[in-house]
Parts: sequence; C-alpha cells; structure tokens
Amino acid sequence: MTTTASDSTDLDDPTSEIMADPYGVYARLREAGPVHRIAGPDGRPAWIVTRYEDVRRALADPRLSLDKRRALPGGYQGFALPPALDANLLNMDPPDHTRIRRLVTRAFTAGRIERLRGPVRRTAVALLDEIAPHGRADLVAAYAAPLPIAVICELLGVPARDRPDFRDWTDALVAPDPARPGRAKEAVGSMLRFFGRLLTHKRAEPGDDLLSALIAVRDEGDDRLSEDELMSLAFLILFAGYENTVQLIGNAALALLSHPEQLATLRAEPSRIPAAVEELARYDGPALLAIRRFPVEDVLIGGATVPAGETVLLSLAAADRDPHRFPEPDRLDLDRDTAGHLALGHGIHYCLGAPLARLETEIALAVLLERFPSLALDVPLSDLRRRPSTRARGLLALPVRY
Ligand code: HEM
Repeated sequence: MTTTASDSTDLDDPTSEIMADPYGVYARLREAGPVHRIAGPDGRPAWIVTRYEDVRRALADPRLSLDKRRALPGGYQGFALPPALDANLLNMDPPDHTRIRRLVTRAFTAGRIERLRGPVRRTAVALLDEIAPHGRADLVAAYAAPLPIAVICELLGVPARDRPDFRDWTDALVAPDPARPGRAKEAVGSMLRFFGRLLTHKRAEPGDDLLSALIAVRDEGDDRLSEDELMSLAFLILFAGYENTVQLIGNAALALLSHPEQLATLRAEPSRIPAAVEELARYDGPALLAIRRFPVEDVLIGGATVPAGETVLLSLAAADRDPHRFPEPDRLDLDRDTAGHLALGHGIHYCLGAPLARLETEIALAVLLERFPSLALDVPLSDLRRRPSTRARGLLALPVRY
C-alpha cells in the first residue's frame, strides 16, 4: 500500500479496497506519506497524491498536463473516445484550453444558469409527485438520476422526443452493463450521430439553448468553435454534468438521512441549504479523483520526484478529508468553514458547471425536504451498495420511505 518503489512490478493495487472504503484507504495512505506509487484503476503504475496542500498545488501546476499525448508510450490506458469527442477541455492544456474555455464561458453565462432555476424546480416537484402515492421508492432511480438528465437536455436544447434515447445512451456509458460488453461503444456511436444531427438542426434553427449559443459564439478575434470542438463540448457537458450531479444528490441525501439532527436543522432553516451543499460535497463528493495528469518534466510532488510522462492521480476525496485542512474531517458538520474544498476542482480546469451543480443540488434537496416531511431510509445503512467505481462515488440505489 505504501510503496514508493520506482519499478513497476509488485505495485499494490488498492482499487477494490478503495471501492469498498475510499476514506479509510485514503486516510491510511495520507498518514503513511504524501505520495505513493500504486497500480492505478487501469492496472498501470500511477502516483497518487493525498494531502490537501499537495493536491491543491498540483491541480494548478502548469507542468502537469491533461493531454494524453504527454503520457509515456505503453503507460496510461484510459477510456478511448473517437477523435470527434476527444477535443475536450479535460484532455487539453493551454493555449487550446484557454481558447475553448473562453468561448464556452461566453455562452455558459450566469444568466443562462439562473434561467434554469424554474425548470429544475418544476422537474423536481413533478418527479416527487409521481412517486408520492407509493410511500416508498429508490431515490436514485426515481429522483437523483432523472433530474440532472432533464436539466442537461433543457440546457443543451435536446428536443423532448429524443430525451428517452438520450438517457439510455448516457446510462450505457455511465453504468456499463457487464452482460452487454459492446453497449458503451454503440452508445458513443449513437450519441455522435445524434449530436451531429442536433448541431445541423440548431444551425438551421437556433433556439434559446446552450448549443445554439455555442455555435454562434465568437470572440474579439472572430475565433469560433470547430465542429469537433462543439461535439466534444456537448459530450463533455453531458457526461461531466450528468454523472457527478446524480451522485452528489444521492450522496447528499444519504448523508442527511444518516445524520437526523443535521437534517432537522436544515428542515427548520432551509436558507442554510446552499452552505450545506458545500459541506456535503466536501464530505462525500462524487469526484474521488481529478482527471489523471502527466508531468511534462520531472516534477517534485510531496517530496517525491515524479518522472515526466507517468500518471499522476490527485485524490480530491483524500484532500477534502485531510485533518490538517479540515479539523475532524470525517464528521459531517453543516456549520463548518468549507472554503477551499476541492470537490469541484481548482485552477484552470475548475468545474465549468459548478454554478449549475450547486443550483441543482440545492433545489433537489430543498424540494425533497419540503415535499416529504417524514423522509427516512427504508433499509439498514449496511444494506446500501455503492457503484463499483474508483472515480465517481455514488449509490447503486437509495431506498427511502416517506
Ligand atoms: C456535483 C456535480 C459536479 C461535480 C462534483 C463536478 C466536478 C468536477 C471536477 C472535480 C472538475 C475538475 C476536474 C479536474 O481538474 O481534473 C470538473 C470539471 C468540469 N466540469 Fe464538473 N462537476 C459537476 C457538475 C458539472 C456540471 C453540471 C457540468 C456542466 C453542465 C460540469 C462540467 C464540467 C466541465 C466542462 C469541466 C471541465 C472544465 C475544464 O477543463 O476547464 N460539471 N467538474
């Protein structure tokens, strides 16, 4: 577990332990040393960084590249996307990243997100109205998952008739079915064709949606987004925006249900929900790891020299539970000062959708508490199962009664 050996054989592989108990494993790693060489989730050697100060510094270090082409040959083996979807912000460094992020920021404005407030609330209310008569439900399937997908469709301007297909493809990517091995690849193909058609349609008939705005956006130099960049962005916004938000709503609901006294304070004072979302994201955020990074030169991290081209994993979960930064980090404390938490990243790749993620989670929790005053877990805590992922921490199901 605590190896810092430089050869790539006999590396500890904490993958299954991390899936079972990420905070316990990360606490042990963090105490044993700031940086460890382990077998990463792809089975290849990787360096994992666990302390808050090191993770925060590394997130903003321009010597750590997100561009896969910076990986050593034969090193990192990640999920391979077709080139038309690979021109995305999370696979890019400046100056390309700067250029695209600047263009997107012009279209993805605070006003556009604020305009989603009404639709998010209406969707949340409608979803709960639907399950209300049953008295019990799986909150992930009935609420945490359909809400963000509806919001992303609204944001991107996906027509209502296409939304069921859209959701099937997204689910095939986010939660691959081991019984259908080719399904994720098929879903990428379907999505690629779908976005191609949608872009053609939005070009001919622009709407009041983000995709139309991204097509139209230009900067002072008359620069604009290419077809591949538009496709990659639509895909990234869907992917990054859907999966993480589902898991944050589910994890947050569970954290509150398992801390009844803190749940009661929020019910009494719903105006505290926005601050609570920050602590809930710190306490059990979905993004356990940042996107893998590759040093462009040998870089000293936490006292270890990480050679150029090797894979660096920055553990956001370990950093946000570092007792040197957040006292008693394993305690959910809605009154805590959470400033500087890393659940949404830090630096130039800081989550582009952070205002939307916050808005959705706040409304999801507010509507849930309003609508179901007697909400409670419907199974013992020990029966709950997590998704088998070292990257996106979430629940397979959250059975509740109300
Ligand atoms: C609770 C929900 C969310 C969480 C926890 C989350 C987390 C993150 C994190 C940690 C990063 C930085 C990754 C890194 O530096 O390695 C990131 C980036 C990003 N997120 Fe989010 N995210 C959430 C929701 C969203 C939403 C709703 C959208 C869009 C609608 C979105 C779009 C993006 C994009 C486009 C990036 C890449 C930004 C860049 O590279 O410049 N995210 N997110």
